[in-house]
Amino acid sequence: KMDSYIDELMAKMTLKEKIGQLDLQTSFRDLTGPSINENYEQQIKDGHVGAVFNAYEPDFNRTLQQMAVEETRLGIPMLFGYDVIHGHKTIFPQSLGEVASWDLDVAKEGARVAAREAAADGVMWTFAPMADITRDPRWGRISESAGEDVYLNTLMSVARVEGFQGDDLAAPDTVLATAKHFVGYGLAQGGRDYHTTDLSEHELWTTQMPPFKAMVDAGVATFMTAFNDLNGIPATGSKFLLTDVLRDQWGFEGFVVTDYTAINELVPHGYARDDKHAAEIAFNAGADMDMVGRVYLDYMEELLEEGKVSIEQIDTSVRRILEMKWRLGLFEDPYRYFDNARAEQEILSEQNLAIARDAARKSAVLLKNEDQALPLQLDSLESIALIGPLADNKRDMIGNWAAAGDRKTVPVSLKQGLAERLGDEVTIHYAEGATYNFMVDAGFAASRADHMVGYNDLSQQQLDGMIAEAVSAAKQSDVIVLAIGEDQRMSGEASSRVELTLPGNQRELMTELKKLGKPMIGVVFSGRPNDLSWEQQNLDAILHAWYPGTAGGHAIADLLVGDYSPSGKLPITFPRSVGQVPIFYNMKNTGRPYNADNANQRQEHYKSRYDDSPNTPLYAFGHGLSYASFEYGELTLSSETLTMEGELTVSVEVTNRGKHAGEEVVQLYTRQLVGSVTRPVQELKGFDKVHFEPGETKTVSFTLTAEDLAFYRADMSWGAEAGEFQVMVGTASDQVQHKGFTLVE
Ligand code: IFM
Repeated sequence: KMDSYIDELMAKMTLKEKIGQLDLQTSFRDLTGPSINENYEQQIKDGHVGAVFNAYEPDFNRTLQQMAVEETRLGIPMLFGYDVIHGHKTIFPQSLGEVASWDLDVAKEGARVAAREAAADGVMWTFAPMADITRDPRWGRISESAGEDVYLNTLMSVARVEGFQGDDLAAPDTVLATAKHFVGYGLAQGGRDYHTTDLSEHELWTTQMPPFKAMVDAGVATFMTAFNDLNGIPATGSKFLLTDVLRDQWGFEGFVVTDYTAINELVPHGYARDDKHAAEIAFNAGADMDMVGRVYLDYMEELLEEGKVSIEQIDTSVRRILEMKWRLGLFEDPYRYFDNARAEQEILSEQNLAIARDAARKSAVLLKNEDQALPLQLDSLESIALIGPLADNKRDMIGNWAAAGDRKTVPVSLKQGLAERLGDEVTIHYAEGATYNFMVDAGFAASRADHMVGYNDLSQQQLDGMIAEAVSAAKQSDVIVLAIGEDQRMSGEASSRVELTLPGNQRELMTELKKLGKPMIGVVFSGRPNDLSWEQQNLDAILHAWYPGTAGGHAIADLLVGDYSPSGKLPITFPRSVGQVPIFYNMKNTGRPYNADNANQRQEHYKSRYDDSPNTPLYAFGHGLSYASFEYGELTLSSETLTMEGELTVSVEVTNRGKHAGEEVVQLYTRQLVGSVTRPVQELKGFDKVHFEPGETKTVSFTLTAEDLAFYRADMSWGAEAGEFQVMVGTASDQVQHKGFTLVE
């Protein structure tokens, strides 16, 4: 039925109307790029706009849809897209933080709630999930990523697609998902956004492609091209990526949208002479829909006349887009996603807020907990000093790309969350204490000043006054809880940094407080791995909260007082300094691996190492503590050999020796000792998040097959190679037990 309906419709469409379907305009509500094309409403009425983004709320979108449906010749409904990244109005933890839950249900459920809210509020297409593997905390978009590991990232990205799209796209509470950014955007050189990416074919297929392939297999509806040039060819103009791989090799049947003006950007990339040439390249490469750049609108007809593009190809792209409109049920009812009653019932419902609170609790990572400084012992505490720029702060709780999320009233600040939890039991002495905005002497570009409220607008005297106030609050208190971190605008798109330390005068504040000799607990709110070396040395406990979302203050209070035990694990390595970047757990061994344990360090001189820093990170991938205390028994393997068709069972007993219940993420890694290409020292192959009551013992088992050990071999074929392997199981990538086994033919 769909095919014949679309056949009939397309038979009636003029060339201009077809080209209109290939165009996506922004509504100017939340610009995420340069503001061009202010005339989009007239273009809708002319039948030249197939889709609109940055428009939400039922009435507004209904008005725009009416223009398309009631004021154009064929009345083809438009698609409404939006960056619903980690929640629509109920905001979930920042994407990277959510991945720290190592809980696929958390990711799926978060996307499900986001879809339900968005789909009632006028949105039927989200530009998520972002699956760019990244290893560079300088890059602001790391906050939107699913971390550095291909295995974890792939599972999380697929879970999110499943959450957004549900089982049935025709259901009114599901939305089209977008696999983005295809591909290589996460490895921007120097961590500077939009910068070039250059990586070997082997690296491309090993670390970048797998999440995208998995999302195709999971039925993702759309793909978004990347801004970067990849090995000399801009991704938006790459026929290799958009057609040879995506269509011919992977069989993707949805449509491809470009990133914002990414076609026009082929000109400054030096890959196209002008916009018309750029349109020709991108369309022939396989980019079906142009986001904002209006180059298809302006040049497609000419390109067709000149024989530079074909009508068959235009028809194919139009059909792909119309099919998605059909699958969403838009031809049946173009207004089915604009439902005030459903929006009212769904958005920020108690149920959604409870799910978001749970997600935030599960995402926080306890990085340090010296002498069990946490949880706070409420029975022996009279007062807490709550200090820091992120303590009485709603705006930053929901992080960047927080879609339609309110920043002023709805989010729960830490101060509010703690006050509600503590009631009259414990007094809170609050002080802001410091600014987290860049200081003028940080050499920060003046051009950015306008964008960052608070930048450089405090005198030294005011800053000193803030610290003095905080010291006085701390003096009256038994323990100091610091809410420190970054302004949420310091990560996200176009927000890269060269320093990873906490910005502003937060360090000065903590240095003064440290002199009081009281226990200091740091709660870090940030979208990236920061350099927390000073904090690691000087604070008693550090809880990484990411940007925890709308219910953040409640969730972090739950964790601080021990109502819930932290269970998050890092999905990304935290470096000791920016100089170590890129640093990631699954590195190669090199020909000169450095041995820090060698008693004779002179023998280690000509080894792969730094003179002024250890090689090891501050916090390893997979690291995360708990209030429970997990003891691992001996690792056992069902056999010392594994055949190509067989299975190997890897088991370990884990006991909770602590007084608190908690969840542990038991992690499984492997290493191939010799390969046809050099292999990483560790690769995550499995994990299990298991709940333990105090005193409880459970056996956690994993099954390994040859397919788990497969990789791109020297000839780029996919498969496992017989030989010696190590299997590793533990609580973090740097805390594992090893056992060897042989993979035999
Ligand atoms: O979806 C985003 C993309 O990730 C970056 N550029 C803008 C797009 C639309 O807002």
